[in-house]
Amino acid sequence: MTPATGALHIVQISDCHLAQNVGPVIRGVDPDETLAGVLELVRVSRPDYCLATGDLSDEGSTESYERLLDYLHVLEVPIACLPGNHDDAEVMRRMLPGANIGMPEVLDLGAWRIVLLDSTIPGCCPGHLSEERLAGLAAHLRDRPEAHHLIALHHPALPSGCAWMDDDMLLDNPEDLFATIRDVATVRGVIWGHIHQDFFERVEGIPCWGAPATSVQFLPNSRDFRADERMPGLRHLWLNQDGSIESRIERVGDV
Ligand SMILES: [Fe+2]
Repeated sequence: MTPATGALHIVQISDCHLAQNVGPVIRGVDPDETLAGVLELVRVSRPDYCLATGDLSDEGSTESYERLLDYLHVLEVPIACLPGNHDDAEVMRRMLPGANIGMPEVLDLGAWRIVLLDSTIPGCCPGHLSEERLAGLAAHLRDRPEAHHLIALHHPALPSGCAWMDDDMLLDNPEDLFATIRDVATVRGVIWGHIHQDFFERVEGIPCWGAPATSVQFLPNSRDFRADERMPGLRHLWLNQDGSIESRIERVGDV
């Protein structure tokens, strides 16, 4: 795939699950080690921007965000972060306040506007978009009607295919999200994390992508929880000037 000239190159990393201390191996994976491998992919690909779509910490500890910040600083790539259900959004906001590594609600990058939606409910696994957050999204879309829009959030707005997650771990009001964006012709795509696996589906013509984790992978189409042997990875997105998006997954060790 050859992205069109002038495309904005975004990489999405997700679900790092860094623990309070380095060392604990979660389901056979050391999350600091696997994150280092994925960040090396980011460094080599030199994107214009990186989006980190939540569960960056496993339990919301200050120590985990301190290490994340150390890892991200050396990349020298601007990064926008979203909270996931494992994060502590307040601790995150305190720890990641910078211009280049922060938690903006909106990124205006040339012809594109990226809206970052906090879908978390403190203390709960599933996600929800409150009326206030949806009104904020609608306002962000209205503000730049000439722009192409990409929406990012942590929780999936569509079933993943894994029954153990799809029963009660997703966004609990996806219909409200789609009702907000359905008639906005400039919404070109939606991306999320949480599912630790590659995902793609269109809803009413809007492409929706899920991403692998930088930590443990989940086996697609599993009834009960099963880890996947696939390597950690990231999602590349090329946002073209005409509003089209090209995307692919890259995993550690791909040649
Ligand atoms: Fe999550």
